[in-house]
Amino acid sequence: MKLSTWIGVAAVAAVAMLASTPAAAQFAKPEDAVKYRQSAFSLMGAHFSRIGAVVKGEAPYGPSVATDAKLVETLSHLPFAAFVEGSDKGDTGAKPEIWMNREDFDKKAKAMQQAVAELSRVAASGDQGALKGAFGDAGKACKACHDDYRRRR
Ligand code: HEC
Repeated sequence: MKLSTWIGVAAVAAVAMLASTPAAAQFAKPEDAVKYRQSAFSLMGAHFSRIGAVVKGEAPYGPSVATDAKLVETLSHLPFAAFVEGSDKGDTGAKPEIWMNREDFDKKAKAMQQAVAELSRVAASGDQGALKGAFGDAGKACKACHDDYRRRR
């Protein structure tokens, strides 16, 4: 094998190793995981609210709706790997029930990700009439999880 081929193989192996590193190893301390997921939720919530303002007629409909929806879709994939063991304590709104019902929690995360992907699709299509329904469905998916697994902090 040529040297360049070996380097290529080594690079692919390195990337594969990175990809399979357990989420817990990506955070030095549980507090770092808490901060990470709160930041992701906070950004996701900010862009979600901007779409909400349009749906309620408080802001004009425009291309920013599709941009915000795409950001929400992307951000929706970030928080959940940061729900590592031992991160139910401290300055967090995460209830310990998450780690007792992890399967249900993950199911609700997935349902929300699907709902915001649909919202993003509708927003990108420019179908203004369908926006309210898609936004409402996504909001219900947020609430379904918050009702069971989030407390005010
Ligand atoms: C599968 C569960 C789940 C879903 C779905 C979910 N959340 Fe949350 N959310 C949480 C939990 C748990 C917390 C508390 C995190 C913490 O404090 O560690 C949280 C916290 C938040 C926060 C507060 C972040 C901060 O600054 O502390 C916002 C804002 C938020 N979520 C918005 C949303 C929005 C908007 C959606 C839907 C598009 C959504 N969430 C969907 C579980 C969920």
